[in-house]
Amino acid sequence: MPLVTMRQLLDEAAKGGYGVGAFNVNNMEQIQAILAAAKETKSPVIIQASRGARKYAEDLYLFHLILAASELNPEIPIAMHLDHGNGFETCKSAIELGYTSVMMDGSLKEDGKTPTTFEENVAITKKVVDFAHERGVTVEGEIGVLGGVEDGHGAGGSGLEHVTDPDQAVEFAERTGVDALAIAIGTSHGAYKFTKKPDGSVLKMDILIDIHKRLPHTHLVMHGSSSVPKDLQDVINQYGGKLKQTWGVPVEEIQLGIRNGVRKINVDTDNRLAITGAIRKVFAETPEKFDPRDYMKPAREAMQKVVAQRMTQFGQAGHAGDYKQLPISEFVAGYASGKYDARPSAKK
Ligand code: 13P
Repeated sequence: MPLVTMRQLLDEAAKGGYGVGAFNVNNMEQIQAILAAAKETKSPVIIQASRGARKYAEDLYLFHLILAASELNPEIPIAMHLDHGNGFETCKSAIELGYTSVMMDGSLKEDGKTPTTFEENVAITKKVVDFAHERGVTVEGEIGVLGGVEDGHGAGGSGLEHVTDPDQAVEFAERTGVDALAIAIGTSHGAYKFTKKPDGSVLKMDILIDIHKRLPHTHLVMHGSSSVPKDLQDVINQYGGKLKQTWGVPVEEIQLGIRNGVRKINVDTDNRLAITGAIRKVFAETPEKFDPRDYMKPAREAMQKVVAQRMTQFGQAGHAGDYKQLPISEFVAGYASGKYDARPSAKK
């Protein structure tokens, strides 16, 4: 199946009441791990690349690897998404290359570090929405600012410093027309999210629930959603790593989000942990080995296991065959006619 738009994938998820994992990739093995998990669980999936990933792998390598994944697995709906675009040109280049979805993270300035004003965020996001929708491409925006830093992108801090204001979220969705909206509810990118299992004082699920009630047609996105399981931390530390104990977002909280409008769940760190643990184990137990396949294969398998588990937990498992891919021209026409207008004021 050719690549699908993220909009179609998320609309289907909304109909089915499930969430879809969006997994970050930098190389071939990560893409293969995701596809192996998607085949195993019969799941639709979002594969996403950050600016850092596009630079690391060189844009074209990554793009063609993801295309290869869709050619080799025609039964799996795959959306190719740009994670945390930092400006118009970054989003435009991804759209022109063939990504079927982009995130314009206008919550930060182009440096990817300094928070913007609300008006700056609306202006840049609207510009990307206009360009993308004319070409049938999906757009995710962000309102509020996530904590932490990932691939050099992020404001740092705890994640509670710029929690999303629901009134602003509604005005933002109305003025930009985004298809999907990332909101800040206390999560952060990276492994060090919480110093204890998070409760309502740090994870603001009530805000998420309020926003969904007011924006029923805008798909909500949870960033920083790795669960950072202790067993993955333990493998790394058992084989010479030095991770400090830390807590991620409990899967039950993500599932509560999914029952309240969360359709896209971003996961990167859990896969990084699984890969690192598997490689460390091979290095520690068989130090005589030097063929990269000897450690990349177990790394790929470890990531597949985590991804398959998340696909089952998010509810996307079993849904790969539910629908046929709509051509991008359907979205070009649909955005022009208002059919895909997700704004609160749009007639449904
Ligand atoms: P984690 O660091 O929690 O995996 O989050 C990834 C993410 O949100 C990518 O945008």
